[in-house]
Amino acid sequence: MIVLGIETSCDETGVAVYDARHGLCAHRLFSQAALHGDYGGVVPELASRDHVRKTLPMLRDAMQEAGVHKGDIGAVAYTAGPGLMGALLVGAAIGRSLAWAWGVPAVGVHHMEAHLLAPMLEDTAPEFPFVALLVSGGHTMLVRVDEVGRYTRLGDTLDDAVGEAFDKTGKLLGLPYPAGPALERLARQGTGQGLCFPRPMTDRPGLDFSFSGLKTHVVNTVRRLGTEAQARVEIARAFQDAVVDTLVIKCRRALRQTGLQRLVLAGGVSANTALRAAMSQMAEAEETTLYYPRPEFCTDNGAMIAYAGYLRARGGQGEPLPFTATPRWPLETLAPPSS
Ligand code: KG4
Ligand code: ZN
Repeated sequence: MIVLGIETSCDETGVAVYDARHGLCAHRLFSQAALHGDYGGVVPELASRDHVRKTLPMLRDAMQEAGVHKGDIGAVAYTAGPGLMGALLVGAAIGRSLAWAWGVPAVGVHHMEAHLLAPMLEDTAPEFPFVALLVSGGHTMLVRVDEVGRYTRLGDTLDDAVGEAFDKTGKLLGLPYPAGPALERLARQGTGQGLCFPRPMTDRPGLDFSFSGLKTHVVNTVRRLGTEAQARVEIARAFQDAVVDTLVIKCRRALRQTGLQRLVLAGGVSANTALRAAMSQMAEAEETTLYYPRPEFCTDNGAMIAYAGYLRARGGQGEPLPFTATPRWPLETLAPPSS
């Protein structure tokens, strides 16, 4: 079965062609970062309009590169949520229309499920069950994954998501949106000496997170030290060290609590190399195998949607098409329009 994937939940247009026999055949990604940069965050209406412009041409390109024609497609998967309503509707409308036109199932994919399963696109895919740390711009979750569709939430953020904390801290340090990757580069220049930020909620039991206090700590430090060159790199480093340490402590706790020895990192922040390095050190000490997607599949992308869509289509899932025509329709059954 060949599945098309469409991701339009936020500010990235992603499309992909996944073939059950050959794996991922082609994928395309367009980031709207430059479009939203001037506003310091995603402008939902601009995001939707750009998805409208980009999705179909990108799908055409990906299908051409994969050498597949409409008759080869077995299902069309699109991100059904969570995400920005208008942006989601673009992918849903395109995905469902194509599926309807081609007479194949349309599969509405859960964005977070797709992130969680993204490492399974790699050569060394994790087996079930595993613990997953999902760290993105909108979510920070620890999840026990027993099989596709069987998820137990172990921990969640009480306030900001980790990616959001990276973005807000970056903004305070004058970095453009989205600030995660730029903050990581800045942190690399820091010594890690002198400043030490709190590791929120690590001194009490439980697997929940909270990052708003850390953000306040950054605000106060910026006020105290300013954002001149050296202060800036040290603040970035201290912030990243605190986040990484916190995530490592909670993951270790989740592994011990569940007794599992497989850990998956997913979501945009899992592209962070300092996080990956610290996690792999912890995993080694815990005799745990660590899995993560290649960096381009950590952030939003179409490949993870095509893959999750394939897993669900294979199981027979398909959405009922809401727009139907009515070939037999007696005139007298009509009612006057409501005023
Ligand atoms: O998964 P994702 O693309 O979108 C959501 O579903 O939210 O995650 C985007 C988030 C942004 O907050 C971005 O700043 C962060 O992931 N991010 C990073 C890095 N790359 C992306 N944060 C820290 N270090 C990175 N290298
Ligand atoms: Zn995402």
